[in-house]
Amino acid sequence: MLFNKNPRNWRVKGGQPLTEMDKKILSFQNRGFLVPTRELIKTPEQIEGIRRSGVINTGVLDLVASEIKAGMSTAQIDKLVYDYTLDHHATPACLGYEGFPKSCCTSINEVVCHGIPSEDEILEEGDIINVDCTTILDGYYADASRMFIIGETTPEKKRLVDVALECLQVGAEACKPYSFVGDQAAAITKHAHKNGYTVVRDLCGHGVGNEFHEEPDMEHYGKKGTGMLLVPGMVFTIEPMINMGGWEVFVDSEDDWTVVSEDELPSAQWEHTFLMTETGLEILTH
Ligand code: MF3
Ligand code: CO
Ligand code: CO
Repeated sequence: MLFNKNPRNWRVKGGQPLTEMDKKILSFQNRGFLVPTRELIKTPEQIEGIRRSGVINTGVLDLVASEIKAGMSTAQIDKLVYDYTLDHHATPACLGYEGFPKSCCTSINEVVCHGIPSEDEILEEGDIINVDCTTILDGYYADASRMFIIGETTPEKKRLVDVALECLQVGAEACKPYSFVGDQAAAITKHAHKNGYTVVRDLCGHGVGNEFHEEPDMEHYGKKGTGMLLVPGMVFTIEPMINMGGWEVFVDSEDDWTVVSEDELPSAQWEHTFLMTETGLEILTH
């Protein structure tokens, strides 16, 4: 029997009768599985808010896609993100988040994630870069990132970028209602390994919407049937970081943010915010 770290008081609901969904979740809890708390299941109003935030988030990344090129600094990308977000009456969630100094993360080549935009960092032909933006609109969060290839890159780096996107897609497809976090992690892991790559284990996706980082931890490396049960109304990211070499990473001690692959081989990541529906995932960031 699994130990349920997240006991949920489904039975106390102001005397209201349990819905079919409540009963289903309870039956999983009674069998010892980790189930979501009530707050993790979004109301229609919250979903609408996150959806609207997702539209701005997609606009930001579309703008970056149209402007990004060799010779540009990552600080210029950051300015595009900041200006577009404010022009659309939203806020970049990264700015000031636990002391993070910029409005997005820019992670080039061997940088896995959380790279800090800088005037001194100039994009070069052949670079692969992840731009990760999180938008807050009317208090609702949407979080997505994409890879961009600067000019032409090597076939090896191009394949890494493509397979990382496939990893996000196979993970999303594995997310059926009443599946587990570990089911999508297993699908991602299998696809990455089949292609000769590894999956970063130290960072994960997350619930999102009312806050930046909510439960559950959306692990990308793992085994089927483990982790939290995923039920309709939950909103979360999937954002696998796929390494060309080993899965180990370190945090740059100079800035305490930049995550780099230990062997300094390239890494790629794509991220979307998803809504779990009765039939599977809906993307809220495209
Ligand atoms: N957007 C990142 C994520 O996908 C988090 C960045 S936090 C920051 O969860 F502070 F580095 F911006
Ligand atoms: Co993100
Ligand atoms: Co995220």
